Amino acid sequence: MFSGKARAYTNIALIKYWGKEDQELIIPMNNSLSLTLDAFYTETQVIFSEEISEDRFYLDNQLQDSKATVKVSRFLDLVRSKAHCNLSAVVQSQNFVPTAAGLASSASGLAALAGAASAALKLDLAPEELSRLARRGSGSACRSIYGGFAEWQKGDSDKTSHAVKIPSAGFENDLSMIFVVVNDSKKDISSRDGMQRTVETSAFYPGWLTSVPQDLAKAKKAIAEKDFVALGEVTEASALKMHGTTLAANPPFTYWSAESLQVMNLVRQIRNNGLACYFTMDAGPNVKILVERKNETALLQALNSHIATQQLVVAHAGPAIKILTEAN
Ligand code: PMV
Repeated sequence: MFSGKARAYTNIALIKYWGKEDQELIIPMNNSLSLTLDAFYTETQVIFSEEISEDRFYLDNQLQDSKATVKVSRFLDLVRSKAHCNLSAVVQSQNFVPTAAGLASSASGLAALAGAASAALKLDLAPEELSRLARRGSGSACRSIYGGFAEWQKGDSDKTSHAVKIPSAGFENDLSMIFVVVNDSKKDISSRDGMQRTVETSAFYPGWLTSVPQDLAKAKKAIAEKDFVALGEVTEASALKMHGTTLAANPPFTYWSAESLQVMNLVRQIRNNGLACYFTMDAGPNVKILVERKNETALLQALNSHIATQQLVVAHAGPAIKILTEAN
């Protein structure tokens, strides 16, 4: 019996990943940059054992159906082949997500699975190797190996596509991200399908790709200079451009709901009134607002008269993945 356990935190991209160059290996079309957060994480234990004949996957103590289990099994196959092991496994995952729900993330889930499975089979992977492995489960998971800011460098092969930590002199600790949960039901178009349709059909996709290097450079400069306004501006611009590509896809689609637009307008209004804050969105209608930590309370107060408290979740910078031992 071989057992391993890991805790990984979710991350939100400030410069978005949108589009795959290689579907199978999950090599992206562009570099992306993220902030790992403390508010949502996944703890996963993997036990490889001779006593079972097929993989079993429990999420929040519920045995999952074959569809969910096949995804996990495929990922475990990668780890098994690296370790020359053919044992089946029991996977127990717990998502620690604030009550607002709907924010469970594949990033923390697949990063924790990669960490736990590789620890169980004693693969002893360096962070960049673990990032490569997590990438194969879900692209954004490769950034959750690191705490604070991370850049997923697209590379051009399985070997060269992984995330790295961005030095920041602790700037991430000056930031807060407030999640506005406008809808916690499952999304209609997965990020996988959405990005594929966009790459293949959107007239705006080439524009997206040419603009990413400049946005990435701006974001890295802003982090190096601890320039919140510059980071916020480029974060919001990256999200708007990514979402813009979906409108020109065929068939066109959007992840925005009427409520998302209301929240985006509210953020602009609060900003026009003098409080620096910027929004970003992913493949769903929820809005995340970046603000300086010193202004977190003021922002919550400004949001309070428009948005119910239960819809708001506050997050701060989170740590790197942790391989858990009996002691913790
Ligand atoms: O790796 P996935 O399938 O969770 O895709 C993530 C896509 C976005 O959240 C929209 C952007 C990003 O970089 O996280």
